[in-house]
Amino acid sequence: MFDIKDLRVSVGDKEIIKGITLSLKAGEIHVLMGPNGAGKTSFAQAIMGSPGMKTSGSVKLDGKELLKRPTDERARLGLFLSFQNPEEIEGVKVSNFIRKAVAARGGKSQDLDTMVKAHENLVNSAAKLGMDKSFVSRELNVGFSGGEKKRLEILQMMALKPKVVILDEPDSGLDVDGIKLIASAIKDLSGKDRCFLMITHYPRILRYIKPDFVHVLADGKIVKSGDVKLAHEIEEKGYSSYTGGKE
Ligand SMILES: Nc1ncnc2c1ncn2[C@@H]1O[C@H](COP(=O)(O)OP(=O)(O)OP(=O)(O)O)[C@@H](O)[C@H]1O
Ligand SMILES: [Mg+2]
Repeated sequence: MFDIKDLRVSVGDKEIIKGITLSLKAGEIHVLMGPNGAGKTSFAQAIMGSPGMKTSGSVKLDGKELLKRPTDERARLGLFLSFQNPEEIEGVKVSNFIRKAVAARGGKSQDLDTMVKAHENLVNSAAKLGMDKSFVSRELNVGFSGGEKKRLEILQMMALKPKVVILDEPDSGLDVDGIKLIASAIKDLSGKDRCFLMITHYPRILRYIKPDFVHVLADGKIVKSGDVKLAHEIEEKGYSSYTGGKE
């Protein structure tokens, strides 16, 4: 479903991602771990088409090459990225933002019935994430706490139902209940129609989500792949064996 081949990413003169090859089949959940500054966020942002990054190699979703396409087209094909640090956007209401995003992805026409139903769904999804319905009437992330911003990213995932879901530290800054709620939202959405790549530093979320593969990214390369045992090994021993002793 999602095939990355020899992806290289540079910012200015600096090569940050140094040839990553990774294949995600429909239904699979992959976890990406790695020390701070290893390149996890840059990898995710380059896949999404963040401006200012030079890329080479290949990233294909259902056989369609993404690298030459603009970000909005990648999103329309079913790619989604939740941000490590979500942006605040003044003057844009959460409900309008999500409604327009769903419509742009090819949702149903926006007659009144559809809009009312979509709003109900949004409020229900927000409740599943422990968010009061007043959140959907607020401006995007403005004045949201760190954990609330993370929940809002997951709310967008729930509304958009993407094919390829990339989550950049969805669990950082969340309280214990929040982690359970977003894990359950991820589990609810997982299935044969989509695949997940979740970046995380903490195995705690893996108590609730069972990944098929865990990969370690160090210095712009995938240096080890394994199953969930690898995440627990890292929790115990750290990354020094992958970084030549320096962290
Ligand atoms: N625009 C940029 N200009 C210069 N360096 C950059 C730029 N973007 C990223 N980098 C560098 O690339 C490296 C990888 O950064 P990245 O944010 O991808 O790390 P990460 O693995 O997500 O780390 P963390 O676990 O802390 O989130 C870092 O050394 C960072 O400073
Ligand atoms: Mg990061």
